[in-house]
Amino acid sequence: MLTLQQAADTVSSIFAPVSTPAMKEASLARMVLALSLAVFVVVGGLVAYSVVRFRARPGEHASEPPQVYGSAQIEAAWTSVPVILVVILMLATGRVIHEVQAAPQPANAVEATIIGRQWWWEIRYPKLGVVTANELHVPVSDSLVRLPTYLTLESTDVAHSFWVPRVAGKTDLIPNRTNHMWVEPREAGTFLGQCAEYCGTQHTLMLLRIVAEPPAQFARWVEQQRQAAATAPADPVAAAGRRVFLGTVCASCHTVAGTAATGKSGPDLTHLMSRATIGSGAAPNVRDRLRAWVRNPDDLKHGVLMPAMQIDDQYVDQLVAYLLTLR
Ligand code: CUA
Repeated sequence: MLTLQQAADTVSSIFAPVSTPAMKEASLARMVLALSLAVFVVVGGLVAYSVVRFRARPGEHASEPPQVYGSAQIEAAWTSVPVILVVILMLATGRVIHEVQAAPQPANAVEATIIGRQWWWEIRYPKLGVVTANELHVPVSDSLVRLPTYLTLESTDVAHSFWVPRVAGKTDLIPNRTNHMWVEPREAGTFLGQCAEYCGTQHTLMLLRIVAEPPAQFARWVEQQRQAAATAPADPVAAAGRRVFLGTVCASCHTVAGTAATGKSGPDLTHLMSRATIGSGAAPNVRDRLRAWVRNPDDLKHGVLMPAMQIDDQYVDQLVAYLLTLR
């Protein structure tokens, strides 16, 4: 049997925070819930007591009880107690909002820009020269070294919302506006999230994940992502796939660094195989799913904006063989 806490850890619960802002928010949420529960118990208890204590008994004449016309003490009590509770909630909330939103960015912070697209996430690390999609890699902080990641949030089409519940509260990505948030995971792991603002047909499959890694591992990931794609693969099928890729519309939507493919409307595929999923979490990134995706993306993600290429199976196989070399 799972304990409640273990269950919270395995799902994307705000009550299992792993990152500094999420921890602050979770403790505020617990305090608000506890206070609300106390109010509920007191008020509900008084109502239940009155219902039982003052109910009509058999043989009793149903008549109006004696009426009370005003009581200064009772009115003072039911005004001041709620006011005090609201002030407590206001101060506690204001403090957490300030701590999260006004946190100054340390000099060593990682910077990433997240761009909401229908229906995937473009992820750029401008200072590191890395471009990827849907899976945000960040370093883990410990009690000695803080390594937060500061995010700049933008959108190219409609409003989206970036939410990885165990890592931070949600923040919207709004066209023509720039929002900011930060994350600071304290433990390594993959944390699941999801677009949290309805943004069209495939809002449901606009999934995202944060991969929190120890700093050395994060640095290796950055180093690997900065590499251009290898030149023509040795395998003849993959080499043929590369020609298909560069000779068709693939290249006008996708970038593969180091080739003539510099399209910007779809995810950067330079290191496609370093990602765990395709279609922004629509399917695991394995050969047969990748093949189904290239053949007809709509099969895996209905309404997806990537068109089916309508090409012969032989070319699909070549394309997939090429994509599998993009590590
Ligand atoms: Cu993007 Cu919902």
